[in-house]
Amino acid sequence: MAHGTADGIPATGPRPSGLLRRGTELPPGPRAPALWQTLAWMARPGAFLQRTHRRFGDPVTIRTYWTPEPMVLFSHPDAVREIFRLDPRVAPAGQSWEFLRPFAGADSILVLDGDPHLRERRLMGAPFHGAAMRPLAPMIAELAERELGRWHGRVNTLERSRHLTLEIILCVVFGAADGDDVVHLRRAIDETLDDVRSLPRMLAMAVVQKDLGPRSPWGRFRLAVERFDAMLLGLIADRRAGPRGEAVIDVLLQQRDHDGVPTTDRHVRDQLVALLMGGHDSSAATLAWAFERLARHPHVQDRMRGGDPAYLDAVVKEVLRVRPALTIAPRLLVEPVTIAGHRVPAGTQVAACLWLSMRREDLWPQAGAFRPERWLEDPDLDPRPWIPYGGGVRRCAGAPFAELELREVLRAAAELRLRPVRPASERARRSLLVVVPDRGGEVLVERHRGGT
Ligand code: HEM
Repeated sequence: MAHGTADGIPATGPRPSGLLRRGTELPPGPRAPALWQTLAWMARPGAFLQRTHRRFGDPVTIRTYWTPEPMVLFSHPDAVREIFRLDPRVAPAGQSWEFLRPFAGADSILVLDGDPHLRERRLMGAPFHGAAMRPLAPMIAELAERELGRWHGRVNTLERSRHLTLEIILCVVFGAADGDDVVHLRRAIDETLDDVRSLPRMLAMAVVQKDLGPRSPWGRFRLAVERFDAMLLGLIADRRAGPRGEAVIDVLLQQRDHDGVPTTDRHVRDQLVALLMGGHDSSAATLAWAFERLARHPHVQDRMRGGDPAYLDAVVKEVLRVRPALTIAPRLLVEPVTIAGHRVPAGTQVAACLWLSMRREDLWPQAGAFRPERWLEDPDLDPRPWIPYGGGVRRCAGAPFAELELREVLRAAAELRLRPVRPASERARRSLLVVVPDRGGEVLVERHRGGT
């Protein structure tokens, strides 16, 4: 998902206000009004980040409606390491997710910090350890083959990848994606997210940060969340009454908190929301980018057809590098800190800029080029700036699962011949929490073995 980042809708929750004194000096950054920076941040995030980096260097301070505080972005690996090692008491990441609280829930891993956050990570990590995930591969491969088997002609790969990754995570969480209750839930998830994914609506929510009634953007979102909640809580109650197996939901329902008390339905609801949201939009964005890149690099498709697992891994790594689904991993400073020799005051957001770290020309030869070979053939490659999953105690909790999923879907895609609909590469834009190809990663699909 969608993730420990302020990549998304603006902050609305309570903040440690007044920590940043007026006139405090911050690293340089664009002087354009916050509204303009917000527009550029949402509509053309890649170009905005590259431009500010070229002009102001590292670090750079940006001001957007995403967070009430200014945000200082760092992209050098040494600075990024320092950010990921910051004490969560000084630099809580949950505060950067505060705006998600109405949807994510009060017990969500996303909004918690300190010990409760670590406990939640342990609880949620249990169903996703290595041995538990291995049996998932054939199920993911089967769903991927079924989905890709329908692709022919012009395909919006973002739309289809959202469909596929939602189906996969529903299967993992509930054991099946085709029961009536799960189908209804799927529809509710689509409706809830579709409403806030469009750029005009995201902008409206960024500018008007209040719920102004059922017709306003936040009001509509609240109502959609209420409908979604009723459905999800109903499903949890049914499942508690009659567990059906070893799906993730059954494991979560058997958990107890640190006092030995069973987790409440509300708590399980928050865990499921984190998994369903986290586990679908960012994987779908990454897959859409993979198809967008592959369509423009036929030699990579040819080499993938050879079936070399090391090359497939290199493709996955390179997509995540060149088009990361999330652009920043922010932490809100409640005390001043020094990062790479720069004093950053309390009341500021400090962020590892994932996008820049993986696109800086001084860190990656031909940084903008999609070249999976670099992972196999470049003996000097320094993997430290490769940080698509963030880092430290907030590193993506679903990273091993995401990689399994990306590998299985791309392995199935080797059967397809992909061509771009237009020769020009697609530009990046924000869609809710993630960065997606602005035309949906549209490709023309032919079947490799079918002779069509
Ligand atoms: C390609 C796919 C994915 C990418 C690029 C991605 C990226 C990220 C990033 C950058 C963060 C924030 C890390 C930080 O702040 O340092 C994050 C957090 C998180 N991700 Fe992912 N993610 C992906 C897929 C998934 C999946 C499939 C799941 C669940 C099954 C998931 C669940 C989470 C959760 C629960 C968190 C919050 C962790 C915490 O706050 O402790 N993600 N992800």
